[in-house]
Amino acid sequence: MTLKFIVLSDLHVVPEGQVSVTLDTGARLEQALEAISARYSDADFCVIAGDLADAGEPAAYIRLKRILDRMPIPVYLTLGNHDDRSSFLSVFGAGEIGATGKIDKVIDAKGYRIILLDSSEPGRVDGVLSTGQIEWLRLRLAEAIDRPVIVIIHHNANALHVESDDIRIVDAAPFLAALKAHPDVRQVIAGHVHLTSTAMWQGIAFTTLAGGHYYCTVDQPTVPMRRRNGPGQLAYVVGTAESTTVHFDNYIDANADIAVAE
Ligand SMILES: [Fe+2]
Repeated sequence: MTLKFIVLSDLHVVPEGQVSVTLDTGARLEQALEAISARYSDADFCVIAGDLADAGEPAAYIRLKRILDRMPIPVYLTLGNHDDRSSFLSVFGAGEIGATGKIDKVIDAKGYRIILLDSSEPGRVDGVLSTGQIEWLRLRLAEAIDRPVIVIIHHNANALHVESDDIRIVDAAPFLAALKAHPDVRQVIAGHVHLTSTAMWQGIAFTTLAGGHYYCTVDQPTVPMRRRNGPGQLAYVVGTAESTTVHFDNYIDANADIAVAE
């Protein structure tokens, strides 16, 4: 019994005919959809770690929904700092609201618990987890004490030693303490920083994926971070009882296959 799922992030979808930082993010999401349909149709589901829309207008969410409706696997969403909760709900429905009042969710599949946490806070670029969310997280983790857990969240909690560290989760200590109360948190996967990273922080694995919008370079000590127009990147998570693996697939600007002589 192997869990397989896709993580997309930072779609920054704009209304038809517009661009964001020179990119047609709707067209880029279409490329993600093509990659998933071609290469990952056996995945159990897809989660999207926020920054669904670039400017949070209903027209962007309508475009997003139209594209996601064609996804061959179930899709679960949470929000990022670019999203607008009320616009999102006006298109995707009030059923998206969790017990915390934010877009928090639990998915139980193939012996795992996956928890989506909404770290967006209206008017803020950095990430906030409310006291109620931390309590909700503690309860959801306690219910799954016998299972491995993966957390999906927009903002990175750990410092990546880059310019954007000051817009990560504010006061990550309660979040970290809640995670550490569970014996088998396998991964905390975030977007937000538009770059790929993996880290260990106090015994827990933290990963970021570059997502679907522009890609940030981390040439040190470059300040500010530079933006590039590719790749568009998804993560493919493979979970067994023994281990959890995260693959990265640059579905835009990926390297071409090398022809092998017959
Ligand atoms: Fe983003």
